[in-house]
Amino acid sequence: CSRPVLTCDTPVRKGAGVTPDLPPPSDADVVVLGAGAAGLMCAITAGGRGRRVLVLDHANKVGKKILMSGGGRCNFTNTGTTPENFLSANPHFCKSALARYTPADFIAMVERHRIAWHEKELGQLFCNDSSKQIVRMLLEEAAAVGADVRTHCSIDAIERPDEGRFRLHTRLGTIECESLVVATGGLSIPSMGATGFGYELARKFGHALLPTRAGLVPLTLSGKHLDRLQDLSGVAFEVEARCNGASFRNSLLLTHRGVSGPAILQISSFWQPGDELRLDLLPGHDLPGWLGAQQRDRPAAELRTVLGDVLPRRFAQRLCEAWLPSRPMRQYTPTQLRQVADLLGAWPLVASGTEGYRTAEVTLGGVDTAGLSSSTMMSRHVPGLYFIGEVVDVTGWLGGYNFQWAWASGHAAGLVA
Ligand code: FDA
Repeated sequence: CSRPVLTCDTPVRKGAGVTPDLPPPSDADVVVLGAGAAGLMCAITAGGRGRRVLVLDHANKVGKKILMSGGGRCNFTNTGTTPENFLSANPHFCKSALARYTPADFIAMVERHRIAWHEKELGQLFCNDSSKQIVRMLLEEAAAVGADVRTHCSIDAIERPDEGRFRLHTRLGTIECESLVVATGGLSIPSMGATGFGYELARKFGHALLPTRAGLVPLTLSGKHLDRLQDLSGVAFEVEARCNGASFRNSLLLTHRGVSGPAILQISSFWQPGDELRLDLLPGHDLPGWLGAQQRDRPAAELRTVLGDVLPRRFAQRLCEAWLPSRPMRQYTPTQLRQVADLLGAWPLVASGTEGYRTAEVTLGGVDTAGLSSSTMMSRHVPGLYFIGEVVDVTGWLGGYNFQWAWASGHAAGLVA
């Protein structure tokens, strides 16, 4: 293909292949809406089969969420990906696509492009250098198969006259296509171009939607719960967060609005207002045994001093002001010591809400998988219409799973669209 390769550094550059520098795009076999992770992977796969592919995005550059992901280093996959790492009303739906495009497949692409990477923890793979390398790689792959990627292209209306080809009325003109792939993502970070367009389109074509809400998001506190902790903003420690049968052991960060950190982001996807949320403040400790030993070995030490040796001192102090009476260890009866152990092992965190889509990494819910084929992502109602990536009701845990779903679902649709 003679089309110049786009770069992710320059949103609009003469000859770089992005609108408005090029003539209007022509009709295509496949139009992909959304040049994010899922859309670009779908374009690469469909283009590789010889399909004429056009990718349209309303934003000024492609892959914005890839660029901002992983603190600028993109946690592009997780080597431990299994269907159990995803939330969906149908937990079986993601199995087929994930099995047919694995983390090893994506790693192979990354290595072909000589992008250096490392494992941070728990199978999470990051670029050594920059997320830009992943966007550049995807754009190079798309250019290599002749996919036409256009930015600055809003879609005004989509119709399917006589139940045949799709007709799109766009800022770049009217375009017709045989297959239409919706990869417009979720609602999180509206300032980065997120819209509810994919959901509206799904509804228009007769698809059911499951309620959407922010996931992988900091939780907020209010009233006395916030007053007690607000001035400890910046304090972090390891906890095990538990809610609705899920549990995650990782760090918690106190913020000026509530709580964040990986353990909280993970559990936020399982929490809804009113649900009970408990934190083990000393995970891995045999709390009754440990407290008993402290009482034996340090009878004159106050509880807050003992706790300050294993928790951040300021948090231990606050815990003993607001939740636990602090006195010398020798003064606790066995029953009282048991109560202390119970509270430390299942501390109730009363969250008032989440920080919402403004800071959420993902959107839970979305296009109901009951209306889609799990092997192709094609609509069961409208032949030739596909939904991939985050717009679908499949949401991964924190740790590279959401990109793996984007790659896998994009690949599945690209094989047939
Ligand atoms: P994505 O959002 O990537 O792309 C959708 C595209 O559609 C966008 O380019 C958008 O402009 C376009 N679009 C939207 N509406 C449109 C319209 N009306 N018309 C035309 N185009 C439209 N995941 C992970 O696995 N590892 C990580 O490190 C991170 N880190 C991370 C950090 C932050 C801050 C966020 C917000 C998210 C993450 N994620 C993540 C989640 C991950 O970014 C997300 O799940 C994927 O990008 C989803 O890929 P999609 O292609 O489905 O949507």
